[in-house]
Amino acid sequence: MELEFQHINKTFGRVRANQDISLTLRAGRIVGILGENGAGKSTLMKILSGYQPADSGEILVDGVPLHAGNPQAAIEAGIGMLQQDPLDVSPFTVLENFTYGQVPGKRLNSREAAKRIREQAALFGFDLDPDQTISSLSIGQRQQLEIMRLLELGVKALILDEPTTGISAEQKEVLFAALRNLAKRDGLIVLLVSHKLEDVIALCDEVVVLRGGVLVGDRQMPATTAELVELMFGQALTPQSRESVPLGSSALRFDGVTLRNKRVAVEKFTLEVRHGEVIGFAGLDGSGQELILRACAGLVRPSAGHILLNGQDLTGKHFRAYRENGVVFSSAGRVEEGLIAGLTLTEHLAVTNSGAFIDWEAQRERTAAQIKHFNVRGTPESEIQQLSGGNQQRFLMALLPDRPNLLVLEQPTRGLDVDSARISGSSCWRAVMLARQSCSHRPIWMRW
Ligand SMILES: Nc1ncnc2c1ncn2[C@@H]1O[C@H](COP(=O)(O)OP(=O)(O)OP(=O)(O)O)[C@@H](O)[C@H]1O
Ligand SMILES: [Mg+2]
Repeated sequence: MELEFQHINKTFGRVRANQDISLTLRAGRIVGILGENGAGKSTLMKILSGYQPADSGEILVDGVPLHAGNPQAAIEAGIGMLQQDPLDVSPFTVLENFTYGQVPGKRLNSREAAKRIREQAALFGFDLDPDQTISSLSIGQRQQLEIMRLLELGVKALILDEPTTGISAEQKEVLFAALRNLAKRDGLIVLLVSHKLEDVIALCDEVVVLRGGVLVGDRQMPATTAELVELMFGQALTPQSRESVPLGSSALRFDGVTLRNKRVAVEKFTLEVRHGEVIGFAGLDGSGQELILRACAGLVRPSAGHILLNGQDLTGKHFRAYRENGVVFSSAGRVEEGLIAGLTLTEHLAVTNSGAFIDWEAQRERTAAQIKHFNVRGTPESEIQQLSGGNQQRFLMALLPDRPNLLVLEQPTRGLDVDSARISGSSCWRAVMLARQSCSHRPIWMRW
């Protein structure tokens, strides 16, 4: 397959998300799509995969104009996209989602589909059980399922928008080996949108760079991180240093805590976190990190052991008791558990207010201040789904209360560009630093 973008333009109101983009992609290549948050990467990929129409311009597949008015038509033309935020449907199972979109007549029966899921999962090193419900999967697992579904539909161009969130280094190795195979052996075009430059360096044959909706660079790999950063931001970035904070008394204690859900059990977990401490969680996706983080916020109750906050035993208490004790939790599933589609940024901030009456003018001003502070590309009137993925993430951080006792962040840098993720650029790191500064003897606890 050969894909050719010809003079693609797309605007949203006054935002020029894609400006006159022309580009040719050849079979068997893995191409990185780079650019800062809001550069227009997802927009271009959505146009290619039929999720959005271009205002003007054309895409040719093997020289033939693609008229992909919708994702199904794009899949029929051999183009499939894993969205930045998975689109699978919660009440259903892995198996039901896997067969979604298969043409009637060619649809696998349940037994065949379950077999295919197991085979493919083994090939990619994915951990998926056909009978699991989507709601019991992590974000990483949901992305894995979507990749398998698209490949089963026979796509020849596979677009991955931020696919490596929440998967471990080992799983990533297996996924990357499988993607290389798909490109080299089966001639797939793989398009990887990622802010993780080490992934881009490990995987891609070529990178294209967008800035402010314009294609500003196209180069063959290999390239160093510094070269890619310079291509993306037009300048080198200075690394951020971390100030040291003196540790205070015990803020959170897990005493022999046992936590269970259907898939995983955390047995007799003991941990002490002191004021001022930052704890990172590593490990294979689905090893129980989610359970521990939710237990910190009172969202999961232990079946044994004790949880103490500032020395006070809150074991088994309602999550409101945790909240009243200054625990703030932000979930990795920003679209499902954090943000509300259809609401504006001002409305989001207003919802976090506890008062019975809302002073909309004051809320608007507060929102404008937060937008500036967290460097969000959007206005108080923007609806949340109009923001790019990374800007949604920044705004999620802007919604967190100012003076938490315990900040529990799940994948806080998900989808943030390296500038905002590593440098103080008013993003998540800044939020963390602010929390550290405004309550420098308070703990911060996170899974990275
Ligand atoms: N549905 C929409 N309505 C209005 N504006 C939109 C919409 N979708 C995208 N935009 C705007 O278009 C610009 C490009 O967004 P896009 O999602 O393509 O960025 P991105 O490069 O994928 O960024 P990120 O790295 O944060 O995911 C942004 O300014 C965004 O706010
Ligand atoms: Mg995006």
